[in-house]
Amino acid sequence: MTDQNLAIIVLAAGQGTRMKSALPKVLHPLAGAPIIAHVLATARALDADRVLAVVRHERDLVAAAVEAELPGTVIVDQDEVPGTGRAVEQAVATLPADFDGDVLVLNGDVPLLDADTLAGFLARHRDAGVAASVLSARFDDPTGYGRIVRDDAGAFDRIVEQKDASDAERLIDEVNAGVYAFGAAALRDRLAALTTANAQGEKYLTDLIELLRAAGSEVDAVPVSESWLVAGINDRAQLAETAARLNALIVRGWQLAGVTIEDPATTWIDLAVRIEPDATIRPGTQLKGATVVEAGAIVGPDTTLVDCEVGPRAEVKRTDGTLAVIGEGASVGPFSYLRPGTVLDADGKIGTFVETKNAHIGRGSKVPHLSYVGDTEVGEGSNIGAGSITANYDGVNKHRTQIGSHVRTGSHGVFVAPVRIGDGAYTGAGTVVRKDVPAGALAVNVAPQRNIEGWVLAHRPGTAAAEAAGEAGSGGTDAD
Ligand code: UD1
Ligand code: CA
Repeated sequence: MTDQNLAIIVLAAGQGTRMKSALPKVLHPLAGAPIIAHVLATARALDADRVLAVVRHERDLVAAAVEAELPGTVIVDQDEVPGTGRAVEQAVATLPADFDGDVLVLNGDVPLLDADTLAGFLARHRDAGVAASVLSARFDDPTGYGRIVRDDAGAFDRIVEQKDASDAERLIDEVNAGVYAFGAAALRDRLAALTTANAQGEKYLTDLIELLRAAGSEVDAVPVSESWLVAGINDRAQLAETAARLNALIVRGWQLAGVTIEDPATTWIDLAVRIEPDATIRPGTQLKGATVVEAGAIVGPDTTLVDCEVGPRAEVKRTDGTLAVIGEGASVGPFSYLRPGTVLDADGKIGTFVETKNAHIGRGSKVPHLSYVGDTEVGEGSNIGAGSITANYDGVNKHRTQIGSHVRTGSHGVFVAPVRIGDGAYTGAGTVVRKDVPAGALAVNVAPQRNIEGWVLAHRPGTAAAEAAGEAGSGGTDAD
C-alpha cells in the first residue's frame, strides 16, 4: 500500500566529472540498465506517495531515462547553484506545503541499495523519532566519501567531505552513504541556512546535518549491515567494481533457482534476463538484455546473446547472437553469428562459421558450415550445403530467398535473390541459382569440366608438380 507519509528524492543533477564521459554518469549501464534505473526500481518498491528526481546536467537525457523507468516521477530542475543541499532544497520546494511526512534522500549513483535495507532504515528513523537519520558504512578504502565524525563518547557529531577533511579526519573509515531520512518540517526549516562556504563552493546536504544538530535536533547515524550495499559510483573503476558485485548477486540468484553456472567469474547476466531451472551456462558467457534461456538448454562456452530466446534443450556454443529465437532442441555453433530476425525452429542447426540475418529456418533444417543466410525462408527438413551464400543485396534493394522443405542444396551454391527453390529440389555443387527451381528438380549450371591432359609437364616443366605428374605416369600432350 502506498506510504502517504513518504516522499523520495533521487539526486541526479551532478555532472559526474570523475567519469570523464560524454554520457551522464547515472546513465552508464549496469547489468543492462542505467545506473539510475536501479535506484528508481528501489524507490518504486518502497511505494512512496511521490518520487522526485533532481536533474540538471544533460537534463533531457536523464529525465527521459527517469520517465522510462518510473513513470510519474516528478522531475525537478536544479538551478546553477551547485551541491546536493541545493538539489534537495529545490526538490522540497515542490512538495505540497502541508506535506509533513518523511523525506528519504537517495543518491542516483548508489545503485545496490535494496528496498529491504531502506525500509529498515526508515522504520528505525521513525521509531527513534529523530529529526534526521544518516546511513553510514565502514569501508576499507573510504577515499572520496564524506566521513562520519563522532565525538569521544562515540555519538554522531557531523559529516566532513573528503576535500574539506583534515589529515586525521581522512583516516576515519566510517563514511556517509549519501542516504538520509528527514522529517519534512525539520528539513524545510534548516535548508535555507545552507551556504557554499567549503572547498567545493557547493551547498552540501551533509552540512544540513550539522545545522540540525546546532539547532538542538537529534540526528542518528545508522550503520548499514554490509558496506557494499552503499557503494557509490564516481569513476569507471567503481563502475566496474559495482558491476562485478551486482553480477555476482545475479549469478548466485540463478544458481539458487536451479541453473548450473559453471564459472561465475566469467559469466555476465543482465538483470532482465530469465533462465529456467536445469539450464546450464558454461564459462565465458554473457546473457544480455531480455534474453530468455529455457529449461535444459546449454549456453556457452564463450557466447554472447543479446535479447535472444533459447528454447528448451537447445545448445548454443561459441556464438554471438542478437534478437534471435532458437527453437527447442536446436543446435547453434561453434562460431555462429546470429543477427536480428534469425528464427531457428525446433531441432534445426546453424553451424560453424555461419552468419544469419532475417532468416527463418524451419524445423529440422540445417545450415551446418561456412554460409551466409539472409532475408531467407527455409522450410522443414532441408539441408543447405557447405559454403552457401544467399546473395540478397543487389546494391540498392534487399531480396528474399525462399527454400522449400526437404531441399538439398549442393556445396558452394549462390542463391541470387529473389529466387525460390521448390520442395524436395536439389542443386548441384557450385550452382549459381538465378532462376526459380521447381519442386523435385535438380538445378545445375556449372560448365562441363574439360581436362587438358599433360598440361603440367608441358607448361610447368621442372616443378615439383611436374615431377609428381611424371612419376604418376602423365605423358606430354599432342598440342606441344
Ligand atoms: C556525496 C556526499 C558524501 C557521501 C557520498 C556517498 C555530499 C556533499 N557528499 O558525495 O558525503 O559520502 O555522496 O556516495 O552530499 N547531485 C545533484 N546536484 C548537485 C550535486 C550532486 O543532484 O549539485 C547528485 C549527483 O548527481 C549524485 C549525488 O547527488 O547522484 C551525489 O553527488 P556526488 O557529486 O557524487 O557526491 P559525492 O562526492 O559522491
Ligand atoms: Ca557519488
